[in-house]
Amino acid sequence: MASAVLVLGVAYLFGSVPAGVLVARTYGVDIRRVGSGNIGATNVLRALGPGPALVVAFFDVFKGGIAVLIARAVGIEGALLGGVALAAVLGHNYSVFLGFRGGKGVATSFGTLLVLDPVLALWTFPIGVSVMLLTRYVSAGSMTGGVAATVLALALGRPPWEVFTVALMAALIFFTHRENLRRLQAGTERRLGEKAEVRD
Ligand code: G3P
Repeated sequence: MASAVLVLGVAYLFGSVPAGVLVARTYGVDIRRVGSGNIGATNVLRALGPGPALVVAFFDVFKGGIAVLIARAVGIEGALLGGVALAAVLGHNYSVFLGFRGGKGVATSFGTLLVLDPVLALWTFPIGVSVMLLTRYVSAGSMTGGVAATVLALALGRPPWEVFTVALMAALIFFTHRENLRRLQAGTERRLGEKAEVRD
């Protein structure tokens, strides 16, 4: 029990490291006051361009993956491993370093999935990216990726704990994208490649 809490806590702390905030700060930018205000790579791309965005994307994927990798290395499997993945995503979305605010959890979810189930992750990735490139809305690609991962987990006959984990991640992605959904409906969502304006 104590070791389970420890592993979940470590995963949450890994997820909490706000790469977007830290990278943008090195450029003198508060990423939470630019563009969508999100701390993820999409918003860093708008504010600072592809180089910093790639660094943020890499780190946000990495911290999810490493949390699950460490848990697995100490012998954790099954539903608790799913819990570790969710703890890392919750850390990103509700970071202890940002007053329990944070990002939308897409890259970190993908990182956990890469380790939990690489086949599922590698099927999901091109689906999300295709929708993103076709619509030029990253948010549309992200939400489609969440749905695709859940459907694929079911279709590929993954164990119930994994389907549940992936479905919860997808639900979290929709929850964190509620403003994006409103903007998509209103036709005001920012397209991929649009530059960011500083918010008051
Ligand atoms: O992963 C986040 C992306 O789906 C949306 O980011 O900045 O457009 O809200 P943003």
